[in-house]
Amino acid sequence: MARSSRRMSSWPISYLSILLLLFFVSPAVMVKHHDFKRCDQSGFCKRNRALADSMTEKGSPESSPYQLDAASIKFKDGRLDGSIIKSLADGDAVKLPLTMTFLDRGNVRVTVDEEKRRKGEIELRHGSVARKERYDEAAAWALTGAGLQAQTTASMKKVSKDVTEVSWGPSGHFKAIIRHAPFGVELWSGEEKHVVFNGRGFLNVEHWRPKVEKPSVDENNTEAQPAEPTEDESTWWDESFGGNTDSKPKGPESVAMDITFPGYGHVYGLPEHTGPLSLKETRGGDGNYDQPYRMYNSDVFEYELDSPMTLYGSIPFMHAHRKSSTVGVFWLNAAETWVDIVKSKHDTNPLTLGLTGGVVDTHTHWISEGGLLDVFVMLGPTPEDVSKSYGELTGYTAMPASFAIAYHQCRWNYVSDEDVKDVDRKFDKFNIPYDVIWLDIEYTDDKKYFTWDPLNFPDPISMEKQLDETQRKLVVIIDPHIKNKDGYFVVDELKSKDLAVKNKDNNIFEGWCWPGSSHWIDAFNPAARAWWKSLFTFDRFKGTQSNVWLWNDMNEPSVFNGPEITMPRDNLHHGNWEHRDLHNINGMTFHNATYHALLERKKGEIRRPFVLTRSFYAGSQRSAAMWTGDNQASWEHLAASIPMILNQGVGGFPFAGADVGGFFGNPSKELQTRWYQAGAFYPFMRGHAHIDTRRREPYMLGEPYTGIMTQALRLRYSLLPAWYTAFHEAATDGHPIVRAQYFVHPSDERGFDIDDQMYLGSTGLLVKPVTVEGGESVDVYLSDDENYYDYFDYTTYAGGSRTHKIDAPLDKIPLLMQGGHIIPRKDRPRKSSGLMKWDPYTLVVVLDKHGEKAEGTLYVDDGETFDYQQGAYIHRQFSFEGGVLRSSDIGTKGAKTAGYLKAMKGVKIEKIIVVNAPAAWSSAGELAVSEDGFKGERKVEISYHAATGNKAAWAVVRSPGMGIGVDWSVKFPESASSAPKTEL
Ligand code: NOJ
Repeated sequence: MARSSRRMSSWPISYLSILLLLFFVSPAVMVKHHDFKRCDQSGFCKRNRALADSMTEKGSPESSPYQLDAASIKFKDGRLDGSIIKSLADGDAVKLPLTMTFLDRGNVRVTVDEEKRRKGEIELRHGSVARKERYDEAAAWALTGAGLQAQTTASMKKVSKDVTEVSWGPSGHFKAIIRHAPFGVELWSGEEKHVVFNGRGFLNVEHWRPKVEKPSVDENNTEAQPAEPTEDESTWWDESFGGNTDSKPKGPESVAMDITFPGYGHVYGLPEHTGPLSLKETRGGDGNYDQPYRMYNSDVFEYELDSPMTLYGSIPFMHAHRKSSTVGVFWLNAAETWVDIVKSKHDTNPLTLGLTGGVVDTHTHWISEGGLLDVFVMLGPTPEDVSKSYGELTGYTAMPASFAIAYHQCRWNYVSDEDVKDVDRKFDKFNIPYDVIWLDIEYTDDKKYFTWDPLNFPDPISMEKQLDETQRKLVVIIDPHIKNKDGYFVVDELKSKDLAVKNKDNNIFEGWCWPGSSHWIDAFNPAARAWWKSLFTFDRFKGTQSNVWLWNDMNEPSVFNGPEITMPRDNLHHGNWEHRDLHNINGMTFHNATYHALLERKKGEIRRPFVLTRSFYAGSQRSAAMWTGDNQASWEHLAASIPMILNQGVGGFPFAGADVGGFFGNPSKELQTRWYQAGAFYPFMRGHAHIDTRRREPYMLGEPYTGIMTQALRLRYSLLPAWYTAFHEAATDGHPIVRAQYFVHPSDERGFDIDDQMYLGSTGLLVKPVTVEGGESVDVYLSDDENYYDYFDYTTYAGGSRTHKIDAPLDKIPLLMQGGHIIPRKDRPRKSSGLMKWDPYTLVVVLDKHGEKAEGTLYVDDGETFDYQQGAYIHRQFSFEGGVLRSSDIGTKGAKTAGYLKAMKGVKIEKIIVVNAPAAWSSAGELAVSEDGFKGERKVEISYHAATGNKAAWAVVRSPGMGIGVDWSVKFPESASSAPKTEL
């Protein structure tokens, strides 16, 4: 959010000058901590931490009051049902229905509900009409329905009267050991225990209870007074923060549990936070946080770095990782959630007297305000397995339209349609590629979405037509707050159709956002979504045409005058669910609604929508891209963007970027240039800036900066085929688009903390952006025993647990190619990615250190429609082995395959570059090419460039001319002699 500038305009000059002075003397802008809760200001978080403290003090979980009733256990077709009994201090008991479902690939789901609430046998206070059940619809929003099938071959046995065991998976490889009293579960894979539930006794399901009005204490009365409550009840019945009071009609209802990963020293995930990729401990101590990681989607103005504070989106999913094993935990809960993390070290072998360094266990404590306890565990064992399982459950990244992964130019605001046209022309004048220009809120008539400011945007269609000439697009912003003004057709319909979010009294909720007084569409309501869809058709959203796409902002939702800058928790949504129950899903329902509205705006024209969202939840990857919100033009924010984006990949929502250049403030030319170089490796690359900043389109900076930024953008464009292929992997197996060191080299412990270098998909490209002022070099850690080559000049760096210093003057991006890969690219500079569609390919074959092998893949489709679902795509495997470079088909055919291949017939390979080319090729001169559809072989020329110093030898084959969609092979000379020697 960026409210300050708007609000300041009416303040007296003297006050403004003091503020300005403060701004210049203070080192950095600061988040307003007092706007957001700490754990001790959130009743349920505080209570659960207190419970954890008391259990830890006691040193054993034995006193945990939860017991699985053995007589209740039923097991059928891979699913266990039973009842957990919670014993209360007064002798009463609460019944909590339990289900455990044993799934494919070592996954398991555990849910705990509350019987009384399920049956509606509770009373709400204040005459609330809210739902009585625990919120059980998070799954319907987050899950796709895949991966939920129980394994019917799972089997259960009673180990003792107090222990039940279920085994499942191939030859019963996975095992759940269920302890009845206190209830707890150990999850085993083979002979090892990987995950433990309630091992520390922090399980807590705050059951419903009626409020007992206490008689007021009479100090003069000497007779016995009621005993002091043993629990802290102060926030059970209402809770105030920052001048707002939450009426809490259901009373306390939190769910919490400890989950331990024995032997696991690292946990990653839980987007969105600003700290390191390997999550920190949160219970204080040197270098640790003293607050749990918080997930309560919020518009955090001027957010701080290295913090567990909440941000705009949340994904309660975590990888736990140790050498050669990764497991995952997905805590499916849409309410406010906090996660504490502590690590403990112990020695497994008493004889080593602690000299071996010991084994680290990571203990996590998950705490949600309400809803079901619903948790999935994935037993891996690789990061790929865990990502795939999670992707199967929550959906894979939607295959984006091809323009969406090119460069986007945004600012708050391009002020008129003429301004947009002018920026568009300037990019061309300076030969800078870009695909999309964006309009922020000022394009509207008085912040009324679906309208245009008549003065400044009198002719949007002519602007869009100009963009279309170079196949460029326009993205416009539409937020979920709808201006509350009579006569504005959108709000009139919203009200008359009764599609808005309600307040606790079940009347339309009114709050403040950009337009002033506003109402919020309730995208949980199917009727609201259907109506939303109707607003986007070209005949209703006048001034838009096929090349216009969407940006959804402020969808946490941001409510300027609401508690913690969002909606009151006791607001009501469709189905009478309280806002508290589903807060973290709110943003996703909105961008999903927009996605569906964009699928078919003109009858018969169905295309892949592009929607950018600020708020998100598990599952958002199916319909949107995200960015990290309002960062700052500082080196620290540039550096922080890398772990944040890597972590989005861990969280299964990898189509992510940060505002290139930084949103608040004016970046120095050096910072902006470095940011373009880093941004060229964000899956989503958009330059954006606050309304108070100076213009900074890349052509504004002058040389050498403009030229260097243009080079970074050209690099992005030339690698678009590699990016698109990486997106396809994310879309089919859930793997991150940019990957962290631990993900690519899961057995190398030295890489587990590294979060400032990234791998692009499985291309073998490794980038380490420069993120410090005046930086002239970077240190890159190379894990595997393979050679890496500088992308630009083929300088060779040996891997095998080595760190290399790589020179990085301002015009250089430290980018390496791991030996053994084949990288597809397109080298012809164009104005936009759309104009590259029919361009030929270059293949960069980076031979392994023996000069013998390499492989890579390429995925291509029309970049626009869903025809790929009917086979209209090319998926090739390239391999180099035994001196032969081959292209083979790895796609499956469908009704539209043949037509697509025909359309792509003219798209050829124009160049093959072989890095680390064997010396034996130096005298080759000609190579033989054989290709499907051609009889015999044809000859092509090869030129060889010998190794010099530590730069690898390379060879080029020009115009080999094979089709991109057919099988072919190129025969290189036998490399009898081994790889040429380069000095390392
Ligand atoms: C907040 C967003 O984070 C920012 O990117 C945008 O420019 C402003 N809202 C105005 O719409």
